[in-house]
Amino acid sequence: MKIAVTGKGGVGKTTLSSTLSCIFSKKYKVYAIDADPDMNLASSLGIHDKITPISQMRDLIKDRTGAEPGSSFGEVFKMNPKISDLPETLSIDYGPDGNLKILVMGTVDKGGDGCVCPASVLLKALLRHMILKKDEIVILDMEAGIEHLGRKTAESVDMMIVVVEPGLKSLETAQRIKKLAGDIGVQNIVAVINKVSSVEEEEFVEKKLKELDVDMLGSIPRDSFVINADMEGKPLNQYPDSDALKSIEDIGKKILNISGMD
Ligand SMILES: Nc1ncnc2c1ncn2[C@@H]1O[C@H](COP(=O)(O)OP(=O)(O)O)[C@@H](O)[C@H]1O
Ligand SMILES: [Mg+2]
Repeated sequence: MKIAVTGKGGVGKTTLSSTLSCIFSKKYKVYAIDADPDMNLASSLGIHDKITPISQMRDLIKDRTGAEPGSSFGEVFKMNPKISDLPETLSIDYGPDGNLKILVMGTVDKGGDGCVCPASVLLKALLRHMILKKDEIVILDMEAGIEHLGRKTAESVDMMIVVVEPGLKSLETAQRIKKLAGDIGVQNIVAVINKVSSVEEEEFVEKKLKELDVDMLGSIPRDSFVINADMEGKPLNQYPDSDALKSIEDIGKKILNISGMD
């Protein structure tokens, strides 16, 4: 099962990604990949050490692509770098049973359309490998800009979850994402409504999602436990009384159900 979580900044992508990762890792092996420039997936899981993102591993990039990071013109480099060992060697083991591994991708300067720099070649190849080749559950916490996914990778994502909140801004972003997702070949796109504080709010978003022709996978209430977890720097899974956690557990069950894994 390969899941990409996307949406406007601040809607709750990282909260959902990290919490789902924890839930699934109780039963399955999971890779949680941070592909958002914000890079706070590890923090959301309670890891606050400084982590060097793969995009900044200069020696590795040079070693695998044959080119100095930062170069883009006039240098020949491998478009098919070896990456199959990297998920294992570069990931951070999380939790007592080691069922959850975290990879922090980082970002590269986009430098206009069709930027082909060594770092982006490596990241793209790694992402493609994770989505196409890995047996594990992969959860990708990513930004709203999904165009760099690449067609092969996009087509192999089983479920793209767009997180929205009550308000037009995140819904407009969802509309853009839906269009982009269609363009690059994502097969299945669903929405999760987060930060819901009333029935009216939920109905408002549901109506808008219908207009967008996007199915709703679930909704998560606005919940002070999420804020507490963030203030205390701990994962939401450590707050069993959290209603948001319960909703995310339901969403997790639904995902396993849809994928035939439960
Ligand atoms: N259900 C919720 N209830 C209350 N606060 C939430 C909820 N979901 C997310 N938040 C808060 O909103 C902020 C953004 O969440 P985050 O998961 O980091 O979003 P994103 O990854 O989309 O930028 C965080 O401060 C988080 O604590
Ligand atoms: Mg985030």
